[in-house]
Amino acid sequence: MDINSRIELNNGVMIPPIGLGAYLSKPGDETYNAVLFALQNGYRHIDSAAFYRNESDIGRAFRDSGLKREDFFITTKLWNKDQGYDKALKAFEQSLKNFQMDYIDLYLIHWPVENLRKESWKALESLYDQKLVRSIGVSNYTIRHIKELLGYANVIPVVNQVEFSPFLNQKELQEFCMENKIYIEAYTPLTRGQKLNDPRLVQLSEKYKKTAAQILIKWSLQIGTITLPKSVTPSRILENIHVFDFEISQEDMEYMNSFNENFRTSWDPTNTP
Ligand SMILES: NC(=O)c1ccc[n+]([C@@H]2O[C@H](COP(=O)([O-])OP(=O)(O)OC[C@H]3O[C@@H](n4cnc5c(N)ncnc54)[C@H](OP(=O)(O)O)[C@@H]3O)[C@@H](O)[C@H]2O)c1
Repeated sequence: MDINSRIELNNGVMIPPIGLGAYLSKPGDETYNAVLFALQNGYRHIDSAAFYRNESDIGRAFRDSGLKREDFFITTKLWNKDQGYDKALKAFEQSLKNFQMDYIDLYLIHWPVENLRKESWKALESLYDQKLVRSIGVSNYTIRHIKELLGYANVIPVVNQVEFSPFLNQKELQEFCMENKIYIEAYTPLTRGQKLNDPRLVQLSEKYKKTAAQILIKWSLQIGTITLPKSVTPSRILENIHVFDFEISQEDMEYMNSFNENFRTSWDPTNTP
């Protein structure tokens, strides 16, 4: 795997395995500069959401990058207040306007909102049929939510984007998703920085002569997820994609798998009805 590698989703669409996260990238120049720098340095995949309020800055950075549209992969998400069939279609239209694009590569339901997620999925299927999105998926779905969706879906989600790191190693969810040809996208792969000083990680970092962040990103790739590290800092944006010149041994992968402690930095969908 290298920077030009792509992962094939269940509908044949190819996705770059590392995407730049955009949550908490401030709207305006902070997001614009980070995304433009990332695109100028090899990133081709950005993970956004209507909720992040920076879709228009990402669209502007893409236009100024000079990249061809087909060489760029953009994800955005339907926010909770916009769930429901008609509202979802309207929210999608607004996202397209924000990006100033004709289509989105991947559109996700951000959260499994009770009573509305089925209608929202039907709206996403309609956008898919109209070719306004190249692929559709979900986020923060547990096995229970996915089983329910598979009961009524005409289109199978290509991904389930969830919090995933050695400290929240959702093995059972990943296995269930893979059995159903749904890729896991790992959000918060760097634990928002909270575990970078874990002594076991520091030890691995010394062993491989890589930073703790690079070890975490490499773990998420080797475990078979698409990974979404966020940074607005140029040196870190570069650091986080320079992970293709080393391999974590099978033994150390297993060691890292033992770090699981159900550690979450973000919202927990476990008890969402
Ligand atoms: N679907 C969902 O519900 C959901 C929820 C959460 C996140 N996400 C997605 O996943 C992406 C990533 O998650 P996240 O932003 O929560 O957390 P993250 O990527 O785990 O961590 C981001 C934090 O780590 C810092 N950082 C980045 N690279 C670093 C490095 N090499 N060394 C040290 N610190 C570093 C960043 O600082 P600077 O930016 O200041 O450099 C930022 O404070 C989000 O941006 C979003 O796209 C989705």
